[in-house]
Amino acid sequence: MSGSGTNLAALLEAAADPSYGATVVAVGADRDDIEGLRRAEQAGVPTFVVKVGDYPSRDDWDAALAEVVAAHDPTLVVSAGFMKILGKRFLERFTTVNTHPALLPSFVGAHAVRDALEYGVKLTGATVHIVDAGVDTGPVIAQIAVPVEAGDDEDTLHERIKNAERTMLVETVGRMARDGWQVTDRKVIIG
Ligand code: GRF
Repeated sequence: MSGSGTNLAALLEAAADPSYGATVVAVGADRDDIEGLRRAEQAGVPTFVVKVGDYPSRDDWDAALAEVVAAHDPTLVVSAGFMKILGKRFLERFTTVNTHPALLPSFVGAHAVRDALEYGVKLTGATVHIVDAGVDTGPVIAQIAVPVEAGDDEDTLHERIKNAERTMLVETVGRMARDGWQVTDRKVIIG
């Protein structure tokens, strides 16, 4: 995670209820001193930081991150606001789910909300998808639409998207953890 951690906070809150059927085994970040790590610590969840700059290459960072994550033996890795591209060595080992603040395949990349606003779409939203080697190109698991309102700026629109996104992420991750999933020809079936 790299950001303010509200998606993580929603997952931690859901996982605190045994009926959710999934737990957060650890929270990792690529930098120190961020809200998400504090939220995890408050919830009593182990945390770790693996920084790109501490490794000679991106590939070495990726392998190191995979080792640390593997030690926690997750069923699923959730990239909730994690803004670094994960490499092949990581993705080969774990099914990783990302949440993206647009309706993929529209508006990939780090400025999806701004790009959607500038394009002038009337409807945008959020997508939960499986991470593959591309940028926001993996199989779609779930999507939710959010209308663009007159007078929206990037912040107001992103805030409404994030509200919808959090609910969808919590529901989707819970279903995957409880029921399992299969991916065939880009179609993700839960259960
Ligand atoms: C989310 O909209 C996510 O899709 C995007 O950045 C935002 C992260 O929010 N990549 P938070 O850190 O979970 O609050």
